Amino acid sequence: MHVDRDSGSCEYSVDRSCALRLDEADGLAFLRERFCFPKAADGSQVIYFAGNSLGLQPKAAQRIVTEELEDWANLAVDAHFSARRPWYNYHEQFRASAARLVGASPHEVVLMNSLTTNLHLMMVSFYRPTTSRYKILTDWPSFPSDIYAVESQIRHHGFDPNDAFIKVKPREGDHLLETADIETLIEEHGSQIALVLIAGVNYYTGQFYDIESIANCARKNGCAVGVDLAHAAGNVPLHLHDWNVDFAAWCNYKYLNGGPGTVGGCFVHERHARDVNLPRFAGWWGNDPQQRFKMHMVPEFSAVPSADGWQLSNPPILAMAAIRAAYDVFDETSMQALRTKSKRLTGYLEYLIDTQGDGRFEIITPRDPEQRGSQLSILAKDDPRALFQSLQDAHAVGDFREPNVIRVAPVPSYNTFDDVWRFVQILTRSGG
Ligand SMILES: Cc1ncc(COP(=O)(O)O)c(C=O)c1O
Repeated sequence: MHVDRDSGSCEYSVDRSCALRLDEADGLAFLRERFCFPKAADGSQVIYFAGNSLGLQPKAAQRIVTEELEDWANLAVDAHFSARRPWYNYHEQFRASAARLVGASPHEVVLMNSLTTNLHLMMVSFYRPTTSRYKILTDWPSFPSDIYAVESQIRHHGFDPNDAFIKVKPREGDHLLETADIETLIEEHGSQIALVLIAGVNYYTGQFYDIESIANCARKNGCAVGVDLAHAAGNVPLHLHDWNVDFAAWCNYKYLNGGPGTVGGCFVHERHARDVNLPRFAGWWGNDPQQRFKMHMVPEFSAVPSADGWQLSNPPILAMAAIRAAYDVFDETSMQALRTKSKRLTGYLEYLIDTQGDGRFEIITPRDPEQRGSQLSILAKDDPRALFQSLQDAHAVGDFREPNVIRVAPVPSYNTFDDVWRFVQILTRSGG
């Protein structure tokens, strides 16, 4: 077996020694130490491939959350300005890291609220339907929260989702979307589409869409473009500014390891972020920080001329503290380095399933590494639920998506090639 560390090309073999050699050659192996690994009841360490659902806890999270609790205990309200990380502008410390993660300028990003809330806030500004242009186009399958958000926005404006909601579905017998099919629908309905809301990486199939091409097509047809980055942020390289999308939103608890249900992130392209007159739902934290504490003396809202101008409330410090620890790990490396390892890890998983799976599994995620991130969605042909239960019994953690898909995500910051090897031994020997 040959591993070429620089070019990224490697030939795999089914032998465990291949996994161990790949781990030895892994320049990011040191990052695994930054994370806490759950233990099974028998004390063994689980094989954790559910980072696409909930990322592992960075070890530093406990210290940073504790520091905020200490500052609260010792300084109380004074901590807004005197804490180690002053609370008044707490959100600002995340800008540079978040901007690097999504390919933006610092003033185009802000951490606030949750993903679904941010999608709604963004639609308030960027879904401005008229009687002739009122439709929303999404990829399919869409995550349920996105479906509910889109349908409720459409209804809120007095339209009917049966007419106004366009879903781009895979071709008969296929699981994935063709970029050409998405663009054909945009061209066909272009003058009626107000918003194209596309996933960065589809939650079910793991397909990484050609966002730049879709955004170009949408903009050419006069549609606003938003991206749900739930499964893309921290997983694949993103260039939101250059791709010219209007907005994006993400959660920080999957590949970004920021903690369960923690605060989300939002991108507003600078051509809008600077536009203080753009309609929005406003709150006091989106108001000019110099005016904020003039309170009712200056009742006029004057939006911060950046993504900050969409903030509603003061930042939830305890929830955001763990994100600091999580982003610090990303700041130790680069998305490019993570992507290189991610391709190898995922390619190795694919190779082992293909060679050892006895035809029991169909990988529905794209085979082209450029069109996927860390996740493989494995369609289990025989008794998928029993198979998933066997995996759980063997402490191999992925997740199950109805009706028959097991999603597994080898995450480059904390998974090893040996994790992949051991996982596939369990998978291929499991019942179902
Ligand atoms: C694609 C996608 N959209 C939306 C959500 C909802 O996120 P939240 O609960 O943070 O609003 C999720 C959560 O997993 C998701 O995967």
